[in-house]
Amino acid sequence: MRRGVLMVLAAVAAIGVFAGGLGWLLTDARPPAGAPRAQRLYYAYCAECHGADGRGSWRASLFLLRPRDLTDPRVAAQSDRYLFDILKHGGATIGRPGMPAFGAQLSDEDIQLLVGYVRTLASGRSAAQRQAQRSADLRGRTGSARHRGRRRRVAS
Ligand code: HEC
Repeated sequence: MRRGVLMVLAAVAAIGVFAGGLGWLLTDARPPAGAPRAQRLYYAYCAECHGADGRGSWRASLFLLRPRDLTDPRVAAQSDRYLFDILKHGGATIGRPGMPAFGAQLSDEDIQLLVGYVRTLASGRSAAQRQAQRSADLRGRTGSARHRGRRRRVAS
C-alpha cells in the first residue's frame, strides 16, 4: 500500500520534471531590445530550430531535427524565390520535410523580411570569418620584424 503511494508520487514527480524540462527546452531565446521586425520574427518563428545565429540549435538536435546551417554561403546563394517558397510552403514539396511551412502564420511581407534576414545571417558569418582571418594575419605579422616595420609605417 505505502509502496503504491510512493510509486504514484515518484511518477508524478517524474512527469513534472519532464514537463518542466521540456518547457525549459522550448523557451525561446529573446531578441535584443529594439530589434528590427525581421529579427523579432526570426527569433519568434525560426530560432527554436535554427538557433539565434542560424547555425542550428542544440534543442533541435535533441528532437532529431537537422536544420540547415543558415549561415552556409550556399543558403545565401539561393534565389529570393527559393527562400521565399521554402518559408511559405515548407520543405516537404521539394524533399526537405524538416522545414515547416509558414504560409498560414506569416504574411508575404513578413516572409520577405525573413528572406532578407536569412541573408544577413550568412553575411554575418563571412564578416566573422574575415575578422578571424584578419586577426590571424595580424598575429602572423607581429611575429616578423619586416611586418612590424610595415605596421609602424601604416600607423604614422
Ligand atoms: C521545426 C523546426 C524548424 C523551424 C521552426 C524552422 N525551420 Fe527552417 N528548416 C528546418 C529543417 C529541419 C530544415 C532542413 C530541411 C531538410 O533539409 O530536410 C530547414 C531548412 C530551412 C531552409 C533551407 C536551407 C537550404 O539549404 O535550402 C531555410 C532557408 C530555412 N529553413 C529558414 C527558416 C526560417 C527563416 C524559419 C522561420 C520562419 C525556419 N526556417 C523555421 C527546421 C525548421
